[in-house]
Amino acid sequence: MCGIVGYVGERRAAPILLDGLQRLEYRGYDSAGIAVMRGGQITVVRRKGRVKGLSEARSLEGKIGIGHTRWATHGAPSERNAHPHVCGKICIVHNGIIENAAALRTACEARGELFASDTDSEVIAHLIAAEKGDLLHAVRAACERMVGSYAVAVLSQEEPETIVCTRRASPLVVGCDGDGLYVASDIPAIAAKGRKVYVLEDGEFSVLRQGRPPRFYSGALLPVEKTEIDYDAAEDVPAKGGFRHFMKKEIAEVPEAVSRSLPDLRKGEYSALYEVLCQTKYLHIVACGTAYHSGLCMNYVTHRFARLPAEAYVASEYRYMDPIVPADTLLVAVSQSGETADTLAAAALAKERGAKVLAVTNVPYSSLERLSDFVLPTYAGREIAVAATKSFNAQLAVLYAVAGAVAAGRGLSAPPLAPLLPAVREALAMAEQVRSWVPYFVGAKSVFFLGRGADYFAALEGSLKLKEISYLPSEGYPAGELKHGTLALVDGRTPVVAIVTDPVLADKTMNAVHEVYARGAAVFLITNVPECLSCAEVTASVLLPKCEPAYSPMITSLPLQMLAYYVAIARGNDPDKPRNLAKSVTVE
Ligand code: G6P
Repeated sequence: MCGIVGYVGERRAAPILLDGLQRLEYRGYDSAGIAVMRGGQITVVRRKGRVKGLSEARSLEGKIGIGHTRWATHGAPSERNAHPHVCGKICIVHNGIIENAAALRTACEARGELFASDTDSEVIAHLIAAEKGDLLHAVRAACERMVGSYAVAVLSQEEPETIVCTRRASPLVVGCDGDGLYVASDIPAIAAKGRKVYVLEDGEFSVLRQGRPPRFYSGALLPVEKTEIDYDAAEDVPAKGGFRHFMKKEIAEVPEAVSRSLPDLRKGEYSALYEVLCQTKYLHIVACGTAYHSGLCMNYVTHRFARLPAEAYVASEYRYMDPIVPADTLLVAVSQSGETADTLAAAALAKERGAKVLAVTNVPYSSLERLSDFVLPTYAGREIAVAATKSFNAQLAVLYAVAGAVAAGRGLSAPPLAPLLPAVREALAMAEQVRSWVPYFVGAKSVFFLGRGADYFAALEGSLKLKEISYLPSEGYPAGELKHGTLALVDGRTPVVAIVTDPVLADKTMNAVHEVYARGAAVFLITNVPECLSCAEVTASVLLPKCEPAYSPMITSLPLQMLAYYVAIARGNDPDKPRNLAKSVTVE
């Protein structure tokens, strides 16, 4: 998953490309490049590292160009593997994976063509360069030979005022205003007041030619009429607002994200969905990463209160497990970005097998939204830091409400969600206390997060957060399972975070605390069960407000997010852009 941007128009392209790439950096940031064409000559500037490394390219002259920020799949992050890639008169940027790239490359090399990179993407430039005819037809012919996923933008020295772009299983949007035409892999890269934006569907092509409106074509190159989308340009210009990092700002926004996202499912606009929820017999939840953890939380709540056979799956497993999808299955696909390739594929598969698909996503017009039967938006606002924070809590708000509706449909009831709002606000204020724990974690060998019931899912998420941005090995573990092997790893260099929010299970989890303490571990407690605070074996603790135990990840996640944040900083890492990761994973 990489970011693509392109521009042709009246203004100098380079600054527009660089600004657009900056806004797309959450898609990848291991290398970047731009190509600008002037008088039929293409100048390419590429660098290993972040977009800011391209600053000298800002002065390039030329009113047409394409740019790219990369998250390496094929070929190490390096200048030679950075996009754009050139072959003869053709220059391309690509997001996705060309699965038959090796075979295509061998065929090109057999014809004597030389390759300059290790990427799968470069072969696209070779395929297009080998075609006859105008650029649009050449790109289409090349696409017919490619297997895999792609969003591509192409320049040709033969057509110095044109960008051709196309997509398959990888998002692409086109924009236009009085100044010119734009293409990007995501709306924020080209969002601006008064600018029209159109979403390209799979297999469609677009031709952006200076001085003309954008043209759209079907896979058979028949003209397609498109309607501009209605997006909020103001929403898409995030700033740190006085915070040092986006992650900290986004944690601070959790209460707002939760209160905005809580849906009233009985209301008019959701009535059709409410009907489906009431009749649902089977629930499959698919997601990746943090969204998978919110899916696990929903699964737990559904079992507890709706007594419905639900199952949460890692999307990349679901799609290959030949899932049984009985009639009346509702598949809930959870994705902050709405573009995660594995989640999209899992949802599409379930749909093919007869399930209704409900998307829970934070991004309007995302691919997930478009393939789903129903959409419940999370209103977390744009999340820039790669590690998800406020989107997790917003997902919980929506998913708990869905579980509640399923329970109601079965003549049962789930505890009310409204009391969570003040609890979240209070928990945010308490969460800062974990800052004093940091010295115990900075040099740790590894970290364990323990919990039972819903606390176990919070433990999983706390551990993922820490891994993502501090690079410390850690595990979220069911507190009762520790003694079945994992205890062997615990010693004086493995701090343990115990999460205890269910009075019924508190003693059980505290048993695990005694076990790890006896092995020399320093124990840190996140709890809202005051009795646990008297345990002399605990090094430090945070006492959170009371809440329904099944919903507790909504509040325990806050100190966990904060802990990961402060440990990452203490270890000298950039919490907003962790190494090797990207926010939107649009490849398999
Ligand atoms: C990536 C990110 C994770 C995120 C996951 C799912 O791996 O690094 O932080 O949780 O994708 O993303 P989604 O947009 O589908 O929620």
